[in-house]
Amino acid sequence: MIKEIYALGVGHGTPLFIELAEACGYKVVGLYHYNETRTGEYDHGYEILGAFADLMNFNIKGKSFMLTMGDMNIKNEISDNLIHYGGILPTLIHPTAVISKFVQISDSGVLINSHCEIHSDTKIDEGCVLWPRSTIEHDCRLHKYVFVGPNAYVGAYTEISDRAFIGQCSILMSNKAQAIGSSALVGAGALVTKPVPANSIVAGHPARLIKTL
Ligand SMILES: CC(C)(COP(=O)(O)OP(=O)(O)OC[C@H]1O[C@@H](n2cnc3c(N)ncnc32)[C@H](O)[C@@H]1OP(=O)(O)O)[C@@H](O)C(=O)NCCC(=O)NCCS
Repeated sequence: MIKEIYALGVGHGTPLFIELAEACGYKVVGLYHYNETRTGEYDHGYEILGAFADLMNFNIKGKSFMLTMGDMNIKNEISDNLIHYGGILPTLIHPTAVISKFVQISDSGVLINSHCEIHSDTKIDEGCVLWPRSTIEHDCRLHKYVFVGPNAYVGAYTEISDRAFIGQCSILMSNKAQAIGSSALVGAGALVTKPVPANSIVAGHPARLIKTL
């Protein structure tokens, strides 16, 4: 039986997640956008079936959804609503990802793209998103709704708190980065050599605080 899934969010990242769902054996039935004026349009050949608000008037119990937006606060809020009304947010793992059998991954809304690697004794909580070719080394913990950009490298023994954003091609040094605070943002290409406080933006080589949110 073909498994059906609806994609929420219509942005430049959405096609990546459509391909992820299809690689995992799902048929993408259509898209939902925050903007109701786009209902009925097509994006990459997939129909925009409605706005997020419309979902609350639709019987979502038992239906599967995939959230493709980059803003993890929005993803967290909408996911909680969908789950509350009986929606299912399957964890999708691309067949090319290499994942140790000693890893624990939540079965709710985790999206792991192509060629990611996850090493032993790492734990990944609900709603986390890994873009292609990112690596999470051994003994890491990703709390809820962490975003890991493409080619990012999370070194061993790093704990990343809720909704933190790890930029593309950044390196979190094993044993040294240790802790990334909630909603912190690690800039693209950063080399993180020490813990990053919550709600702060760090960037550069070595990474330095550039802003507090
Ligand atoms: C760090 C970041 C959040 C800063 O964004 P911003 O607040 O809009 O900052 P600005 O672009 O105004 O840049 C401010 C300064 O920081 C520098 N800067 C910005 N990003 C930087 C980075 N990643 N590394 C080093 N320096 C950076 C800029 O050159 C600029 O320097 P200047 O004042 O000397 O000209 C952003 O540049 C970034 O790296 N985002 C992550 C992108 C990413 O990985 N996306 C994943 C997509 S899948």
